Amino acid sequence: MRIDIITGLPKLLESPLEESIVRRARDKGKIEIVVHDLRSYAHDRHRTIDDAPYGGGAGMILKPEPLFECIESLKGQRSYDEIIFLTPDGEHLDQRIANELSLKGNLMLVCGHYKGIDERVREALITREISIGNYVLSGGELAAAVIVDAVARLLPGVLNDSASALTDSFQDGLLGSPQYTRPAEFRDMKVPEVLLSGNHAEIEQWRQEQRLERTRRWRRDLLRKDNGV
Ligand code: ADE
Repeated sequence: MRIDIITGLPKLLESPLEESIVRRARDKGKIEIVVHDLRSYAHDRHRTIDDAPYGGGAGMILKPEPLFECIESLKGQRSYDEIIFLTPDGEHLDQRIANELSLKGNLMLVCGHYKGIDERVREALITREISIGNYVLSGGELAAAVIVDAVARLLPGVLNDSASALTDSFQDGLLGSPQYTRPAEFRDMKVPEVLLSGNHAEIEQWRQEQRLERTRRWRRDLLRKDNGV
């Protein structure tokens, strides 16, 4: 799959896209990620991408011209399944949406900055709006990085253990079970006996019980049918 990210702050995206699973997904050719610097689409001497809001108010708004030029140029090169604007106004990202996006061919992620983007961009070009939670970030870049990470790890062949993404917390609507690694005893704290037993059926049963118990304790909302997972 291919993801194009449009941003006025490309540096903010550098390390999240250069490390760990996302790096591996790119190296394996499972995902192509192209970051576009919005300033390259501004043609005045100062390469201005934002301006004060009509009607007054604090903050700066991303201007329509560079965004239209950039998005339309990309749309002229290939067709996009979704053109997503990252904004606290959007639908909340969850595992169901990550799964859905991971099945797409071409996605465009548009990062707003400052106070927002000119509404005409949203009306004419954006097909979907996604938020990563009920809080306001300085811009959409970190949200875009979150989406790319959540999606890249789901692509077939990215994780070594093919079952791994499927056994993630949330993938079946439950939290994960406790995990331990060596040593079996550390500062008087012991790894649960069952995990050392080698009895896979018992281990599986214990893990499932732990997952249910943790979900009931910490995330009762996930046990509702309409939990979005
Ligand atoms: N941009 C600013 N805040 C955001 C949020 N919570 N989610 C997505 N994009 C954003």
